[in-house]
Amino acid sequence: MDYAATGQEALSRIAAAQDLDTLEGLRVEFLGKQGSISGLLKTLGGMNPDERQSEGPKIHALRESVTEALSGRKAGLEGAALEARLAAERIDLSLPAPDMPRGSVHPVSQVMDEMAEIFADMGFAVATGPEIEDDWHNFTALNMPESHPARAMHDTFYFPDKNADGREMLLRTHTSPVQIRTMLERGAPLRVIAPGRVYRSDSDATHTPMFHQIEGLVIDKGIHLGHLKWTLETFLKAYFEREDIVLRLRPSYFPFTEPSVEVDVGFTLVNGKRVLGGQEGWMELLGSGMVNRKVIAAGGLDPDVWQGFAFGVGVDRLAMLKYGMDDLRAFFDGDVRWLAHYGFAPLDVPTLSGGVGTAA
Ligand code: DAH
Repeated sequence: MDYAATGQEALSRIAAAQDLDTLEGLRVEFLGKQGSISGLLKTLGGMNPDERQSEGPKIHALRESVTEALSGRKAGLEGAALEARLAAERIDLSLPAPDMPRGSVHPVSQVMDEMAEIFADMGFAVATGPEIEDDWHNFTALNMPESHPARAMHDTFYFPDKNADGREMLLRTHTSPVQIRTMLERGAPLRVIAPGRVYRSDSDATHTPMFHQIEGLVIDKGIHLGHLKWTLETFLKAYFEREDIVLRLRPSYFPFTEPSVEVDVGFTLVNGKRVLGGQEGWMELLGSGMVNRKVIAAGGLDPDVWQGFAFGVGVDRLAMLKYGMDDLRAFFDGDVRWLAHYGFAPLDVPTLSGGVGTAA
């Protein structure tokens, strides 16, 4: 048997293999269970000792050289494949992005970010609570017991089943229950805002069944109405980016505050349009007041030690006033033309230093 010729042929076919599949085919052909070289090895068993002595080393050497050639070629092909892949997948990071990112940030999200940025600068943290609430957090703990007429005014969406504690379940009608949850969870002193979705069974040109509020809550010692007024004024000047914002506090009623104040903001008429600032006229902006003693107690705190103020404001309305939209319903239609017009660039993150008011 001419092992040298067999070896030559095997080695040249291995050298000529252009891909890993072909190479694997050759490995099976030569060295697999039914392979030709494996077959030669099996013939050793049928040889006499002399033959075996002379043929054995040749067959083993053949097997060795083929095995070596296979693994050498394999490494070569794998290296080439990796090189080709690296070349094909190369990204030039110095190139500009091929397209501006698609999509935009909804004005409601943008305004919530703006408000969080402004209040963070005043030392407020962001708190959250569930949109599916129980009637204790949403009403009772906020000094609205079961028979309270204010409950009826909220047009509440109720769930058919009570929770495990026997409490009626509902979609929260305001962000005020986050006041209770935060006091119970974090204790005092506190400075938080709580932005989020709220729900009421109400729908017309100025009402949608889901809308957005931001709640504010400060609990500390010796807090009074002056702190509330300063905080709201500082916030509104930063938010509307105008120094001439004037506030008017009117006595009002909310069950969870005592005294309660309705805050109006002054506007000026420019070409028949209302522009915030000055005091030619007033528009109602938000509800607020000193936190009712009963609410502080429901939050697990001693009202003889801790006082506080709270406020609640509609985010959608704040967005409309600042960015000039006049139909609330368009906020939630998902019309891409509206979003392209009123939305914000994804990378246009509001910061106090960069400005919280620049429209995209
Ligand atoms: N929760 C009230 C509402 O939805 C708004 C409000 C008024 C919140 C006065 C407050 C507050 O925290 O003090 O109409």
